[in-house]
Amino acid sequence: MNPLELLQALDQPALDAVYKRSLLTTQGWSDPDLATIRSLARVLGGFDRAGLSTALCPDELAWAVFFDQSTRTKSAWAGASARLGMHPVIVDGSSTQVSHGETAVETGAMLGMNSHAMGIRHDLILGEGNTFIRDVTKGINEYLDATDDPRSVPVVNLQCDVDHPTQTMADLMWLEEKFGDLSDRNITVSWAYSPSYAKPLSVPQGMVTLLTRQGANVTLAHPPGYQLIDECMDAAHSNATNGGSFRTVDDMDEAFRGADIVYPKSWGAHDLMLEKVDANAAGDTAELAAVEQRALARNAEYTDWICDEDRMALTAAGEALYLHCLPADIGSEVSPGVMSKFKVDVAREANYKVYVVMALLAAAKVPDILPRLTEIAQEN
Ligand code: CP
Repeated sequence: MNPLELLQALDQPALDAVYKRSLLTTQGWSDPDLATIRSLARVLGGFDRAGLSTALCPDELAWAVFFDQSTRTKSAWAGASARLGMHPVIVDGSSTQVSHGETAVETGAMLGMNSHAMGIRHDLILGEGNTFIRDVTKGINEYLDATDDPRSVPVVNLQCDVDHPTQTMADLMWLEEKFGDLSDRNITVSWAYSPSYAKPLSVPQGMVTLLTRQGANVTLAHPPGYQLIDECMDAAHSNATNGGSFRTVDDMDEAFRGADIVYPKSWGAHDLMLEKVDANAAGDTAELAAVEQRALARNAEYTDWICDEDRMALTAAGEALYLHCLPADIGSEVSPGVMSKFKVDVAREANYKVYVVMALLAAAKVPDILPRLTEIAQEN
């Protein structure tokens, strides 16, 4: 499809509805607004692949702070802002004054003053990350209001304790490319064994909340004690009442049987993730390390929770699509053979994130985006 044809998927009133918006969770956005971002992401991806420059926000600073490691999301943030003509800067959260106690609201005010868009990853401690991102957003907006500054400084959640919305939107775009409409598709989000670290709960939480809005039959599988937070479970159950279904099982084989799509990945046991909250609040790094060891010992009780060839054979015609947000623990979460079979698929799944971030920044910052993109397409 040529760039002008791609633009037919966009609609300026729908884009107006997402102007100046921050994305803190997908659950906080309506279905039409999320669909607008995916449509814009498809257009921007098409323009990028056609070699068209979309430097819509020149001379602007896209600042991101990460309180956890990242490869894909950091590079997606940098790649997205660079493609929009912005200057990406990515900072380790521990190097900021937050580590000396400066509050999120104060931090937001300073960042709103100096930057034009803000990404945040704060995913390791339950109850903290999403609150931090909300407080930064509050600080930014209070500063802009108090100074009559008309700039839009959108905030993008780059993974918190509740959700990983740029990941799940990328996952959904990949599923839409493969399957089109997801109504009545059987999708399994399953815990899988990991010896590496107690991973955040935000990807499975984000997936069950977003996929239950697509009319799919969503199955969540995990061993006892690995439940997700109530807020996301309640949202998934509520979303599923508009079509599709949502159930939880404690048997990985049962969850894989008849699935069209499987998303097996690890996360930390709920009670131990809560123990980390207390240790972190006390600043007790020794206890944090001890809890992490207990979390890995707990995971090791379930080494048979692996996505391997035998389990994939249980899926619909033995041909389910395997998803993973990456990085996967190969040999623990997934067998080498299954990962090898799907290695291009998971890379294409990951590739959508750069266009999701681009779409969020462009939609929030460029009020006349449709005529601007039309002009770019016509000039080329
Ligand atoms: N999937 C994902 O968020 O990857 P990173 O941790 O590398 O950003």
